Amino acid sequence: MGNAQEVSAAGNDNGIESRIRDLLERMTLEQKIGQLNQVQAWGDNIVESLAPAIRAGRVGSVINIVDPNVINALQHIAVHESEHGIPLLIARDVIHGYHTVAPLPIGQAASWNPEVVRACARLSAQEASAFGVNWTFAPMIDISRDPRWGRIAESLGEDPYLTGVLGAAMVEGFQVSETGGADTLVACAKHFAGYGASEAGRDYNTTNIPENELRNVYLPPFFAAVEAGVGTFMTSFSDIDGIPATASDFLLDQVLRKEWSFDGAVVSDWDSIHQLVVHGFSENDVEATYEAATAGVEIDMIGGVYERHLPELVHQGRVSMQRVDELVGNVLRVKFRAGLMDRDVTELPSVPPRMTALNMAREAAEQSLVLLRNEHGTLPLNAETLSSIAVIGPLADEPAEQLGTWVFDGDAERSVTPLAALNSMLEGTVEIRHVRGLETTRSKDKGGFDEALCAAEQSDAVVLFIGEEAILSGEAHCRADITLPGVQEDLIRHLRSAGKPVIGVVLAGRPLALGGIIDGFDALIYAWHPGTMGGPAIADTLFGRVVPSGKLPVSFPTMSGQVPIYYGYKQTGRPATPDTVIHIDEIPAAATQTSLGMTTFHLDAGYEPLFPFGFGLSYTDFAYTDLALDRHHIRMGESVVAEITLTNSGAVAGAEVVQLYIRDRFASLTRPIRELKRFERVTLEPGESRRVRFELHTDDLAFFRRNKTYGAEPGAFDLWIGGDSTTDLGTEFHIDA
Ligand code: BGC
Repeated sequence: MGNAQEVSAAGNDNGIESRIRDLLERMTLEQKIGQLNQVQAWGDNIVESLAPAIRAGRVGSVINIVDPNVINALQHIAVHESEHGIPLLIARDVIHGYHTVAPLPIGQAASWNPEVVRACARLSAQEASAFGVNWTFAPMIDISRDPRWGRIAESLGEDPYLTGVLGAAMVEGFQVSETGGADTLVACAKHFAGYGASEAGRDYNTTNIPENELRNVYLPPFFAAVEAGVGTFMTSFSDIDGIPATASDFLLDQVLRKEWSFDGAVVSDWDSIHQLVVHGFSENDVEATYEAATAGVEIDMIGGVYERHLPELVHQGRVSMQRVDELVGNVLRVKFRAGLMDRDVTELPSVPPRMTALNMAREAAEQSLVLLRNEHGTLPLNAETLSSIAVIGPLADEPAEQLGTWVFDGDAERSVTPLAALNSMLEGTVEIRHVRGLETTRSKDKGGFDEALCAAEQSDAVVLFIGEEAILSGEAHCRADITLPGVQEDLIRHLRSAGKPVIGVVLAGRPLALGGIIDGFDALIYAWHPGTMGGPAIADTLFGRVVPSGKLPVSFPTMSGQVPIYYGYKQTGRPATPDTVIHIDEIPAAATQTSLGMTTFHLDAGYEPLFPFGFGLSYTDFAYTDLALDRHHIRMGESVVAEITLTNSGAVAGAEVVQLYIRDRFASLTRPIRELKRFERVTLEPGESRRVRFELHTDDLAFFRRNKTYGAEPGAFDLWIGGDSTTDLGTEFHIDA
């Protein structure tokens, strides 16, 4: 897992460490514990209600206060009226935008573009910091392989490498600014760790993750966040190996502090220190406080248990003053590094220009769209040859729904919906017949179907906006059946009887299981929840002004019962192959147990996803040729260089995400059948070719091994390059012993 020494950010500290020591020497126990205390407050009298505690130094951070006047008043008290003048951390979940909303993180991940992800975070930071916020609880870098889990919306998908690269870009976007710091947010890598493995995709549920899987799949993105300089971590609500993450000394002390040398602060999740009692892990709040403080949680998010119980634990000698100083020092270090101690925190940066924000949101939305199906070149539509289109569905014109989950501050009035964008694009050229068809995606009332069919019959093509409203994904919004909710599948079938091309645009916070209805679409664009500028991005893509370039950051199941399904699965001793799979409808009457293939598949779903990880179509074609390695044998510590020629062999310019996968054929532990190791987005004109080059060092092939150390192992490796995780354009190389 890299060299821990390298990631210690303490190196050139500009005197921060001595300033921290100086403060700690002068602070009382109450003031120290105040730095560990995060509070919330509601209503009209926030300033009055919090002033005494802030003045006394009993509050280090506040959450969910967004009125800049209130924030400034609180900061003024902290800086000018408290003894040590330590500013507050002002926390808010700025997950994929503030007032202007970018696509959901899972949609941003579909861009496979770290520059876009970084720019979205930068914009969010600029907007939020202009209102006094200085700390966000993002990125969420929980590996998410179960789309029943509503929080997959907030994730960067199923893959450790992709999540690590994009998560690091998000951290940099929030924390790093060209203009010096006032327009940054401290980022927070969450939820440490394993939250995405909540059993059955039910939020907050227990997890079962063996150490090999934890270290090889769930932890790498968090290490990437540490390397990117993330200021804070948040614990997971879930338990792992019987220990709630908020009390896990293994995660918080052994891995995070000792192995990775993280010296920022860890915040509990919402009330999760107290919830150690609810887990049945701590007998009461005193014990919960003891567990969290000794494991290494710095900040108690709204629970108030540190404030109530840490003093007695210190007086009893169960928690040492040295421990308290370590915790407080870590919080102060975050404040110093963010520049809060050295600037006037009440001087807020200006809001970025509205057009800049909208353009950024639009570009991100364009790159987040994934073209999943396009039979007979249905798309792009041609405004010159069409005379009318039917725009149908409950999500064509929903300014708030297209923003998705986690948009406390999102301004739905800024949203441009697909219907609005199509209207303005096609005005005077193509007639639009808009019929909702269904009240919501969950409605079961088919009363609107015939009007929708009538519009379809009168039009040249049907564009159908379906999926899930924002409320159906996100925290605590999980589903067991992840097909299209309500009677949307029936609506699609109904509309097919019009005999017109049916183009589906799915807005949703998770991969839906579309196996039962996929043939109902002539073309299908997966739009996730695309944010403020989703409408123009979709309209431009439908009509070919934008060529789709998104690729799936997560595998799409055919049906719900297949999940979790992901590309990096283990081979097993009985791998399924196309010729061993038999479908339930094809089992002969006289079949016996052993005539059923005896490999790892479902009788009703086979073993493959509907759409694989990395998949996404374009309006142009890309050819991959001349895969070559500079050598086929390397030694430990050396690199191999792989090259491929990518050619745009179609008729329009487009961008392709070139992906490199490897497989470690034999190892001391079973390894995934494929692992993404590199990718690059390449834009080419028609007919243009480019040689794309990737270098892989043996460190890139390292994993947590049977002997519980990290490293690569000698032996044979497959290597493939292509446009998705099923590419068969491959070669092999060896690490020689
Ligand atoms: C979520 C966190 C979030 C926190 C603060 C919790 O319920 O799990 O991800 O940052 O609330 O709003």
